[in-house]
Amino acid sequence: MIEIVEPEIMRDKSIMEKKSGKRVGVVPTMGYLHEGHGALLHEARKENDIVILTIFVNPAQFGPDEDFQRYPRDMERDRKIAAGERVDYIFYPSVDTMYPENFSTYVSVENMTDLLEGEYRPGHFRGVTTVVMKLFQITQPDNAYFGQKDAQQLMVITKMVRDLCIPVTIRRVETVREHDGLAMSSRNVYLSPKERKDAAVLFKSLQTGKDLVQDGETSTEIIIRRIIDIITAIDTIRIDYVEIVDLHTFKKVNRLESGREYCIALAARVGKTRLIDNVFVSS
Ligand code: PAJ
Repeated sequence: MIEIVEPEIMRDKSIMEKKSGKRVGVVPTMGYLHEGHGALLHEARKENDIVILTIFVNPAQFGPDEDFQRYPRDMERDRKIAAGERVDYIFYPSVDTMYPENFSTYVSVENMTDLLEGEYRPGHFRGVTTVVMKLFQITQPDNAYFGQKDAQQLMVITKMVRDLCIPVTIRRVETVREHDGLAMSSRNVYLSPKERKDAAVLFKSLQTGKDLVQDGETSTEIIIRRIIDIITAIDTIRIDYVEIVDLHTFKKVNRLESGREYCIALAARVGKTRLIDNVFVSS
């Protein structure tokens, strides 16, 4: 496993690998790896000759009152997990190399970034698409792996790739969960034991939503109301949003139509920790 901090060196290595006929897969992360990241690395390992893991806590995607400074970091542990997944390269640049003084070029996907996470975290997706674009330029991948856990991020990046004709295939990996259904997240470490237990209601409520759709309910208002009722029964949790959007446009819908795919997405604060989760459903 080779560790690289300089973008030019990373790009040269990847170009060299590709020239010798190797297929390159990249897994972009902010580190503090868990089994969700592990699933992405596992898929990448299956489908590529060379696997690049990038670890970069990207300041551009955090708001001024968010957790950039205290975002959990543990490079030693990440190295071990990466080695266990047989990663070939770890690219972990410094903030100064990624954003040198006078950095002034950003990539923004419009419309679908206006709601859900985009509404609650202004500027977040601009930071994500800018850094992912940059990581694509640096790692030159054939395939790039993203989790369904961040469904809107996955769709926004898919849109960027299509709109800008970026020669990368985006691969989706299903959400990996704890035994009680809580989606794995680097931020789960912030939860107190009670909050951790309470947080399981998020996935339970989404499953109830999914069951309602499968039983034929088509009114998004009714489904959303039921999910909100389940979550608000737990007093440590405050909801930011519960929404049902068309999976491909990420636009809100009032009525589910048969044959279409939707995403039931939510964000909530468990104590001080903000968590997101979602399920895909088809009517
Ligand atoms: P991070 O939160 O570290 O997540 C890295 C990747 O792991 C993302 O594609 C995310 O969707 C996926 N992931 C996280 N938890 C998961 C889970 N429980 N199951 C499956 N996949 C999971 O998302 C980011 O970093 C950043 O925004 C990034 C794309 C790296 C840009 O900075």
